Amino acid sequence: MNAWIEARVARRETAAEGIVSFELKRADGAALPAFSAGSHIDVELPNGLVRQYSLCNPPSEDRRYEIGVLLEVDGRGGSRSAHEQLVAGALLRIGAPRNHFALAPSARHSVLLAGGIGVTPMLAMAEALTVADASFEMHYCTRSLARTAFAARIAAAPYASRVQCHHDDGPTAQRFDAERVLADPRPEAHLYVCGPKGYMDHVLGTARRLGWAESGIHFEYFAAAPIDHSADGPFELTLARSGRVIAVAAGETVIAALAAQGIEVPVSCEQGICGTCILPVLEGTPDHRDMVLSAAEHAANNQFTPCCSRAKTPRLVIDL
Ligand code: FES
Repeated sequence: MNAWIEARVARRETAAEGIVSFELKRADGAALPAFSAGSHIDVELPNGLVRQYSLCNPPSEDRRYEIGVLLEVDGRGGSRSAHEQLVAGALLRIGAPRNHFALAPSARHSVLLAGGIGVTPMLAMAEALTVADASFEMHYCTRSLARTAFAARIAAAPYASRVQCHHDDGPTAQRFDAERVLADPRPEAHLYVCGPKGYMDHVLGTARRLGWAESGIHFEYFAAAPIDHSADGPFELTLARSGRVIAVAAGETVIAALAAQGIEVPVSCEQGICGTCILPVLEGTPDHRDMVLSAAEHAANNQFTPCCSRAKTPRLVIDL
């Protein structure tokens, strides 16, 4: 866990049906750590759960962070705590921004694809690309206008003409057509995708089928798919710096095996979506179960997420 920052809710607003936006400031009024577009922060909610939320305000701002929280009725309680308990003026702890979803500086054109609350990192990206006078387009898919968070902000933004909103309940002509939007996989263009899993699978699958290069596809999941642990086996970890060998049992995570030996690795989401726990791998082949590393990073096999990933080889040597 990174160092906590004492913060307070400076403003709370209904951003759409089921979505609340929170403006967070440092409790002592000082400047917040700088962030880049695509960053997220840990938020310790009033019920004690820690959740990750993308920052959606312009990255040039240093006195405030803005997040949007969708109420997940069947979730594990994080969003419910935010919606019910995080009132204006409330004090809370937040982490410093981290970014595993950064804009590629080399992109000649960026395609921002947002599904539902996945719009939050895209707003910061749209702001940054506008300031940089960079070429981009944004497609924002929601179930209905009533569930379209930040619609008024987008309509009033200098980049409004680059954004197309698509509603599931709207006329057929305005529906999102991934085949059409992704039809031209130019090598210098980069694609950024964030949204619910079904949306992500559809968009990413279409992009890959149409020939978009993996190096130009960037994505961020905000909930992990269930992981099947039924075939998990034991393996050994060697800690390169000390030579210690630690057994990881079949039903145990690497994080838990290390903790049992008194070795703490920073964790946050514990489901392979935030990247907090990433460790370098020196030997052996990880069995990647995360959704935060790219396909190229998985193929390189030189890092893994010990909160959920395991080993394909009997032994992994990690740089710890
Ligand atoms: Fe979030 Fe491991 S703790 S990816």
